[in-house]
Amino acid sequence: MQKILVIHGPNLALLGEREVNVYGKVTLSQINKGLEKIAKEQKVALKIFQSNHEGKIVDIIGKAKRDGFNAILINPAAYTHTSVAIRDALAAIKLPTIEVHLSNIYSREEFRQHSLISAVATGQICGFGAESYYLGLLACCKILKK
Ligand code: DQA
Repeated sequence: MQKILVIHGPNLALLGEREVNVYGKVTLSQINKGLEKIAKEQKVALKIFQSNHEGKIVDIIGKAKRDGFNAILINPAAYTHTSVAIRDALAAIKLPTIEVHLSNIYSREEFRQHSLISAVATGQICGFGAESYYLGLLACCKILKK
């Protein structure tokens, strides 16, 4: 069975109570349940990881290949716009990677309109709320079936 690593970056554990006007009322555990349902239907295995710490995210990406993962689904959250370290980790392991965001980062503040991650990702999906994750997981599955 193909294995997909799902990474939620900083502050995403606060979904549901955090800036609901931007991110909506959906919680991270509801998103994770939705992802698990799709994974079951698509017959892939998921490991879901959330961290507020850049180094921990770099560590799990760095060993993703050794740990047998075939693809990565990542919402790097605020690190999207700042983290050369996460970008370099993804570039190093070269696994198919889908970057997702709940909000449309290109219609928000200027500092959010640039992603350091997208150049090393296979593709990016943003602006669909929780659906961005579900579309992102389906994109991972499509790539793995090619
Ligand atoms: C986000 C967008 C980022 O700019 C922000 O820092 C987040 C969430 C999103 O999913 O829309 O924390 O990645």
